Amino acid sequence: MSRPAEALVVFTPSGRRGRFPVGTTVLQAARSLGVDVDSVCGGRGICGRCQVQLSEGDFAKHGITSRAQHLSAVSSAETELTASSVLRAGRRLGCSALLEGDVVIDVPADSQVHRQVVRKRAEVHDIELDPVVRLYYVDVQQPDMHDPAGDLRRVEEALEFEWRLEGLRCDLRVIQSLQSALRAGDWKVTVAVHNDNEIVSVWPGFRDRVFGVAVDVGSTTIAAHLCNMSTGEVVAASGVMNPQIRFGEDLMSRVSYVQMNPGSEEQLTAVVREAVNQLVRDVAAEAGVTQEEILDITLVGNPIMHHLLLGISPVELGVAPFALATDGAVRVWASELGIELNSDARAYVLPCVAGHVGADTAGVVLSEAPHLRDAITLVVDVGTNAEIVLGNRDRLLAASSPTGPAFEGAQISSGQRAAPGAIERVRIDPQTLEPRIRIIGSEHWSDEPEFAADAARLGVTGICGSGIIEAVAEMYLAGVLRSDGIVRGEAAAQSPRIIADGRTFSYLLHDGAQRILVTQNDVRAIQLAKAALYAGIRLLMDQLRVDSVDSIRLAGAFGSHIDVKYAMVLGLIPDCELEHVTSAGNAAGTGARIALLDRKARDEIEDVVRRIEKVETAVEPRFQAHFVDAMAIPHRTASFPNLAKTVTFPPRHAGEGNDSGEPRRRRRVRAP
Ligand code: FES
Repeated sequence: MSRPAEALVVFTPSGRRGRFPVGTTVLQAARSLGVDVDSVCGGRGICGRCQVQLSEGDFAKHGITSRAQHLSAVSSAETELTASSVLRAGRRLGCSALLEGDVVIDVPADSQVHRQVVRKRAEVHDIELDPVVRLYYVDVQQPDMHDPAGDLRRVEEALEFEWRLEGLRCDLRVIQSLQSALRAGDWKVTVAVHNDNEIVSVWPGFRDRVFGVAVDVGSTTIAAHLCNMSTGEVVAASGVMNPQIRFGEDLMSRVSYVQMNPGSEEQLTAVVREAVNQLVRDVAAEAGVTQEEILDITLVGNPIMHHLLLGISPVELGVAPFALATDGAVRVWASELGIELNSDARAYVLPCVAGHVGADTAGVVLSEAPHLRDAITLVVDVGTNAEIVLGNRDRLLAASSPTGPAFEGAQISSGQRAAPGAIERVRIDPQTLEPRIRIIGSEHWSDEPEFAADAARLGVTGICGSGIIEAVAEMYLAGVLRSDGIVRGEAAAQSPRIIADGRTFSYLLHDGAQRILVTQNDVRAIQLAKAALYAGIRLLMDQLRVDSVDSIRLAGAFGSHIDVKYAMVLGLIPDCELEHVTSAGNAAGTGARIALLDRKARDEIEDVVRRIEKVETAVEPRFQAHFVDAMAIPHRTASFPNLAKTVTFPPRHAGEGNDSGEPRRRRRVRAP
């Protein structure tokens, strides 16, 4: 039978099809049809990135009978890559397999350059892998006496000829290492190109991996994700405490430290950079990656962390009008930030939104994408300052609210950070007022027999942020607390758990080696924090002219551990259907990872941040009124119809308020 002159090839899943002369490689056919197939080695059978799978059978829809023998025989390059487990069973190299008949070719997701990697955002839109640094393997023409072109020109010509990369720039430090790389690699080199327009590194021979690291610089912890820039995979992740804590627990005390010790910002900058370096060393070691292989870093952080990391004094952020040194994204060499990666690595710091709303919120926005949704979405990142974003694709607003550290267990008599032994879950029987608790590190409630052994092993050491939220909310639901936050002394007749404490009363949550009480002052601290948060949210709702929100996403560590029902019972957040209130996890860190893996996301977030309307809660006259109303549990006037479907609110008690739930006299309170 005579060989056909042409073969029809159909690519799945794209559905692109075309006829090509027999002998064309599958990779060439894919390229000419615009089908996305990866390659680093340029079709030399080295990198193994161009893997495809032939689909065998009769495809009536395409009018094709696709057979294995319609591709050329397995090449030696394929045999080698199969032996080294690079080429997976049943697959062919697109650059080795020649078309010899009609075929249907599937391009697996891991062979596509622009593949979806961060699935978190899939409900809104896919995140494509489109890393800012890509590798290109090229054969460079050797110089001779008749061609006086410099070595850099030869590399540029090879990149233009093989990869159609034009108008490339190059830094002096790359030129300094270029000639030795070319000669060491026998004129075959791998070139790392940043953003398709700048040569950032040249290595002798073939290389197929390059890494980037995404870092979330929090005021308490710093977290890093090391990613393979070619696959999008997170190869290692780790976190450390922010060593700046020794200069002050919270942000404002660190700013005060700098104010009182002129020049000390350099110390704070040095320790945070060293912590980032240590973290990078840790994740690189864990993944077996050298720092020289890391060519890009993205960073997020609140405005004060952002400034200190960049070596900018945060003093202006401590006083009105809270002026940022820059609200734009920062693109620099990583070495300019003292971060030890490849000497040619770049750093990208996401833009800050406003003086109190930082690059961490930009990361949250990138991850949560409220600007792409129709639904009115509220995103809250609760820390010492709550950062709040509200809106949808039409309009987006942001503010921060001074919640203080109560939600992190500070300012609470038995408060502590979330650590083994801390009470994290609380239930109170409304009849007997007896509590049940759970501690971090134990799976058992305190009324289960196994709890005693866990408590003896771990201790019951205090209450963490999520524990105090549940304790206060359960005290309210059980009738221990009035809606104005007063611990009801009358209940002392009902239960020995209510203990007189001077002129006020406390609730005895745990009576062990350590007595753990929820005092009137504890309840007050939580009320102040939650009222500040709610008032900030309400201010944004006023500005957006909405009375309800469609969905609520709670970001950050606190948002991950808190039980959303109790957050709503306390009135931290407005009423919403409970199934639409969810944790967003470390959304700021995810945003940094998106900016690392998808260079288009950088333009996207810069554009969105410019369009976000910034609301300054400190100067808004209505903030105080909202704050006072929000001191009540769950709120003085707002109704919670969705919450009422799942929770039975306690009856109002005498003196607590009128029939509408309104207290008779407003307490004198001021926002923190
Ligand atoms: S393109 Fe590198 S092996 Fe095919």
